[in-house]
Amino acid sequence: MANKIVIASGKGGVGKSTLTAGLGRTAAGKGIKTLLIDCDAGLGSLDILLGCDKDCTFNWMDVYEERCKAEDALIGVCDNLSLLPVPRSAETDYPEDAIKSFLDKHESEYDLIFIDAPAGIDNGVKRAAMGADRAIVVATPDTVSVRGAWTVARVLLQNGIKEARLVINRFDYRSVRRKKQFNIDDTIDQTAVQLLGVVPEESKIISASVTGKQLKKNSPAAKAFDRILQRIYGANVPLRISYFK
Ligand SMILES: Nc1ncnc2c1ncn2[C@@H]1O[C@H](COP(=O)(O)OP(=O)(O)O)[C@@H](O)[C@H]1O
Ligand SMILES: [Mg+2]
Repeated sequence: MANKIVIASGKGGVGKSTLTAGLGRTAAGKGIKTLLIDCDAGLGSLDILLGCDKDCTFNWMDVYEERCKAEDALIGVCDNLSLLPVPRSAETDYPEDAIKSFLDKHESEYDLIFIDAPAGIDNGVKRAAMGADRAIVVATPDTVSVRGAWTVARVLLQNGIKEARLVINRFDYRSVRRKKQFNIDDTIDQTAVQLLGVVPEESKIISASVTGKQLKKNSPAAKAFDRILQRIYGANVPLRISYFK
């Protein structure tokens, strides 16, 4: 059985897809057979972030409605990393079990599966979460995002997710010192979700998202992805965030 984790947020644009792509690349680099499923119908971006947008022909609805086989829709991004693309059309009435039915048939082919959910608390996130065991809730350290994270965590837990953990993204200690961002403790308190990791604000993430290339392994965000992945596998890895750099 694969480890199946849905990556969700209440507010959009907080870094779910960036985290999904980063964790996927990190896991694949360690020899973990990883599948990424893009669930953000109409707004999918994993293909762009992974530099394989030109390879997308079919998506999970084509597999569900048997217009193609799973292997025709899946894209091999690199060794140990596959992507299942999302429909381009932003319909809201895709079947609620579209992802679960794929997982039921194919999860045994993978060690780790990340499901990139759409923002919000409606059917889209429920479809993404159905069939997942655990959730990562992503928040940036600001009022609106934190409120959204609180809400989506509760919706996920009411919809069969056993455990939700928080990733704080775009953390910038200078902004905390200028009181323009919440600090880590306040973000945890206000989401009421246990912390899994913190990813720093990093301009290279934005350029990497344009080129579809991988971040350098020694960049602060790539190191944060690595620490988060280790914690997913139960390692006790300390936070390496300093407010006084
Ligand atoms: N840690 C980070 N540092 C700087 N920019 C980031 C970081 N994480 C995400 N971004 C940028 O934020 C924007 C939204 O990220 P994205 O992953 O698409 O969010 P979501 O999937 O939640 O909508 C993108 O332009 C992305 O490059
Ligand atoms: Mg996204």
